[in-house]
Amino acid sequence: MRIDVVTLFPAMVDAPLSESIVGRARSSGLLDLGFSNPRDFSEDRHKTVDDKPYGGGTGMVLMAEPVYKALKKVKKKGSFVILLTPKGRKFDQAMALELAKKKRLIFICGHYEGIDERVNDLADLELSLGDYVLTGGEPAAVAVIDAVTRLLPGVLKKEDATVDETFSMGLLEAPHYTRPRVWRKKKVPEALLSGNHKLISRWRHNSARALTGKKRPDLLSAQMNADEKTL
Ligand code: ADE
Repeated sequence: MRIDVVTLFPAMVDAPLSESIVGRARSSGLLDLGFSNPRDFSEDRHKTVDDKPYGGGTGMVLMAEPVYKALKKVKKKGSFVILLTPKGRKFDQAMALELAKKKRLIFICGHYEGIDERVNDLADLELSLGDYVLTGGEPAAVAVIDAVTRLLPGVLKKEDATVDETFSMGLLEAPHYTRPRVWRKKKVPEALLSGNHKLISRWRHNSARALTGKKRPDLLSAQMNADEKTL
């Protein structure tokens, strides 16, 4: 997959996505990550990219033209353009699965108080990481690119590693344990030591439901509503 990020601060995205699994996906060519900086398209010698908001108010607004030109440089036929903004649709695992099917993604990161509203029309999707305000779109781009990259075929060692995981079935994942069997008086659940795959599978399913009911009852009721609709 090819991903381009339109950002004034490429290092904020490049550095965290150079480590671990995503870093390896980049080195092996499964993810081709590029950057386009609106500052390179500024029209004055001071490389200005922001200006005061019309109508007054605090903070600066990122101008539309440098963002437009930075986008134009990397946009190809078939690119899916995402604007990161707290006003967008909330990101979730279902969206990560959809985005992982695309060939080319472009993320536009705002900074300062916001971007000139007129760039919204350049995006196919406005996406938010959650109901809080970040200093810019960059940390949100990192999270979304991370979640999408791990779903690309060949990125995780076992492709089916993403099948049973948290959210994929609308439930939180069952707990994991490793050695030792007893750690500071806390025991590993007996079922997991049984070697009986049916028993283990049942235990994991029941634990996932119980855990979801306790920690995220909203997910369980959403799943029940979905079940009702399919009946
Ligand atoms: N930019 C600032 N806050 C954001 C958020 N919550 N999601 C996406 N982009 C943002």
